[in-house]
Amino acid sequence: MSSVSFSQKTLSGAGALWFTVAAIGQMAFIGFILAFYGVRTATGNFAGWNDKPLIDGYIKGDDAGNVVFAAHVLLASVVTLCGLMQLIPALRRKWPRLHRWSGRTFMVIAIFMALSGVWLTVVRGTYLSVISAVAILINAALILAFVGLAWRHAVKRRFEQHRRWAMRTFMVVSGVWFLRVGLMGWVLINRGPVGMTKTMSGPADIVMTFGSYLIPLAILELYEAAQRNANGALKVLMAAVLAVAAAYTAAGVFGAIAFMWGPYL
Ligand code: HEM
Repeated sequence: MSSVSFSQKTLSGAGALWFTVAAIGQMAFIGFILAFYGVRTATGNFAGWNDKPLIDGYIKGDDAGNVVFAAHVLLASVVTLCGLMQLIPALRRKWPRLHRWSGRTFMVIAIFMALSGVWLTVVRGTYLSVISAVAILINAALILAFVGLAWRHAVKRRFEQHRRWAMRTFMVVSGVWFLRVGLMGWVLINRGPVGMTKTMSGPADIVMTFGSYLIPLAILELYEAAQRNANGALKVLMAAVLAVAAAYTAAGVFGAIAFMWGPYL
């Protein structure tokens, strides 16, 4: 085996490892949304949304806000599932029609998630601090821009460009999931909320809120650059970065299940 193919395999293996950890964490997120919000909404127990700590959630008398909140949080499970499906190569190969339909569903719902999120933040006024609101509004703007680019390249049949923008879209749509995992990973590693405040405006909060989409985007770009580069040492270095990212993600997923989602089910 040549050193190039060894390093290439190591890099792709590390990418697959990270994705496997992330997929488990996203499935847990979907499971939580359905078991918590899905069950309460289906049984008409809207006030029960607030059984877990939220900024606003259910507000008595605010019918419009409650409907948007319900649609936003329930469709969060669908967008997360469709995003995961897009990245599984076997599904793409075996059922290309399914890939196209889940891709369209993912993009349309991603647009809805961004717009309803902006509405909840700006019109309903659901935010903890101005800095955290700015961070998530930038996330929404990136979702809309990236969906537009991925879609345009697909329509024009520029598939390599489409793939790249679709991957970037996956990262920004997963921003709120990364935020939860990032915060819980940080709390676990530091054995407490170091650099965090109740209004999410501490230094660690600020790094996390902006980093929830900027760090994954940066890692994706580095991964793609290492894939294209012939330098074997670079590929192994990037594989090490991904292994660290996978370990951090695993810690965050564990923390989110154990402390953020599990206790409320
Ligand atoms: C696109 C991916 C997104 C997903 C998967 C998602 C998911 C969720 C979930 C699960 C909740 C319920 C809160 C919880 O249990 O933690 C929620 C609430 C909320 N989301 Fe999103 N969201 C997304 C995008 C956005 C964006 C882009 C914004 C803002 C621009 C946003 C703003 C909000 C707001 C304001 C709430 C209400 C929080 C509360 O009342 O406490 N979301 N979202």
